[in-house]
Amino acid sequence: MVNAIFPGTFDPPTLGHLDMMERSSKIFGQVYVAIASDSHKTQPYFTIEERIGFLKTITKQILNLKVVNFDGLLIDFCDKININLIIKGLRNCNDLEFETMMAQANRKLAGIETLYLNADEKYIGISSSLIKEIATHGKRLHHFVPSEIEEVVFNKLSKK
Ligand code: PNS
Repeated sequence: MVNAIFPGTFDPPTLGHLDMMERSSKIFGQVYVAIASDSHKTQPYFTIEERIGFLKTITKQILNLKVVNFDGLLIDFCDKININLIIKGLRNCNDLEFETMMAQANRKLAGIETLYLNADEKYIGISSSLIKEIATHGKRLHHFVPSEIEEVVFNKLSKK
């Protein structure tokens, strides 16, 4: 079976991310969930150790999924672990525009293809940045993040 990588910042992981990981694990042989230690956008709020812990906790029932982290370019990490397929989730046209740019660069530079999975409609409105804003203002996150990590994510964000 084909192996694939599902990369992201996961700051923090959401129910939408979890849905993508569960669905990917049914399609591909081994799925690597790869956490970018740094982000192109802003400095992640949660440390890399926290994000690794969150992802391991919420995916422990998915046996063909491995949580890893990387620095630098994704294509270099893919080369290191011998993976040539990237999976991305798409919620809307904005995602598509941004992801197309990255997918084209990754294919030009390394011949690595990107496949997209459509976000389930239940999760289209969820993003890690929205979650940070909601919890910073004291509202709980049960509708947005997996229940096993809700409390710890909420506690840290609400003390911001
Ligand atoms: O969850 P995000 O923030 O949408 O994830 C974006 C991520 C981490 C997958 C992307 O920024 C990435 O691949 N970063 C690593 C650096 C890299 O390879 N950049 C793309 C150059 S074409």
